[in-house]
Amino acid sequence: MAKISGGKAGGLTRSKESRYHQLRVQRSSGESRYDIKAWQRVAVLIRLPAFQRRGVSRTGFHSWRATGDDPYFVFYTFSSLFPYVIFQIWETDRTLTPQLFPDRGHGFSSSDSFSLFQAKDAIYVVSLKLLGEVRRLRFDPSSYQCEFNFRALASSNLTSVKSFIGRRQVRTDEIGREPVWQTTIQLSRHNYKDQWNSISSSDNHAKIAATGIADEAAIASAARAAVAMLQQHVGIGANDVVLEIGAGFGRIGEALAPLCREWIGTDVSENMVEHIKRRLARFANVRAVATNGFDLSQVSSASVDVVYCTVVFPHLDEWERYSYIAEGFRVLRPGGRMLVDGVNLDSDGGWKIFEEIRALRPEGRQASVSKTSTPQELKVYFRRANFINIQQVPRDDMIVTFGMKPS
Ligand SMILES: C[S@@+](CC[C@H](N)C(=O)[O-])C[C@H]1O[C@@H](n2cnc3c(N)ncnc32)[C@H](O)[C@@H]1O
Repeated sequence: MAKISGGKAGGLTRSKESRYHQLRVQRSSGESRYDIKAWQRVAVLIRLPAFQRRGVSRTGFHSWRATGDDPYFVFYTFSSLFPYVIFQIWETDRTLTPQLFPDRGHGFSSSDSFSLFQAKDAIYVVSLKLLGEVRRLRFDPSSYQCEFNFRALASSNLTSVKSFIGRRQVRTDEIGREPVWQTTIQLSRHNYKDQWNSISSSDNHAKIAATGIADEAAIASAARAAVAMLQQHVGIGANDVVLEIGAGFGRIGEALAPLCREWIGTDVSENMVEHIKRRLARFANVRAVATNGFDLSQVSSASVDVVYCTVVFPHLDEWERYSYIAEGFRVLRPGGRMLVDGVNLDSDGGWKIFEEIRALRPEGRQASVSKTSTPQELKVYFRRANFINIQQVPRDDMIVTFGMKPS
């Protein structure tokens, strides 16, 4: 068990010759020291080490895997010196359902706990003064297996809390309710670029963000199924220039590039585009283009034979869905084909997804949360964009819509 030691003020000591204060934290594994300069006047933020944890294992500097039931981290608090504790989660592989337990001298109890808003990217600020006499805090990231980045910090005052949050465009939640300060920063749904860049920095995170899986064999098998669908509905010829909207890390491009003249992967996220360039570097006929999230302005009119967009429309607003269909029409040569899919509200699976998201508190819903489409919605867009031979087929929970630009 770790022990906070040192001079007065809960482990904070000041040596005569130094202008630095020192916080010493004694652990069974050794002693950690933090030098804190003029802590009473200057905003100070320190990393708060967990003194105890269960059901979580470290997979990187900030990254963790929750391995078992009831995972948690326990932290000691020093409210007189650091009245604010900050918990940050980011780059999670799924929405976390964090809970916070304060120990006010009687241990942790579920009757004295806070359900924090469910998120994939969030900062939770705990105002210790407003919570009363808190000795320890227990942070439970979720009740199930998950991977996530996590860190805990202690802050000497609100200035450092605010500057920490100010640098990060994420959703924040306060625990203990600070009356003089309210902040809620959330990326809006239409800020596609920041949203997708923020969850795709590493190869692994990009795979999880784009497909929900990291296993290469499963990724390749799903890509083959997508190619078979394209071949069946719009055809892929050896002479075709094929363009994907929202291409992710190039999952489908990897399987399509050997089958066509050129494959162009477009994506709003520069991270994804970089992943495509690395992953598909062996193909001379691959081009990766970062877009603005609204159009295909870098692509010339009438230069492409097939445009497709899969597992992207659920994350877009209706206007962008239509804009991309209209843009697809523009970049297609006469006789070119376009295919898109959306989560079909008029299917059992689509309705289940709709109900799961309805069950979340509105403020706990991610900006990029999957929104359903009706078959009619997608058909209207194709018709309005002047496509002909419009057809629709249900595929699992999706509705696949395709059509042709008149010759
Ligand atoms: C669920 S992933 C699907 C990736 C790829 N289509 C696949 O099936 O492997 C959604 C992709 O759409 C991209 N995206 C999201 N909003 C976009 C937008 N407005 N314009 C272009 N791409 C977008 C994301 O960056 C992400 O790569």
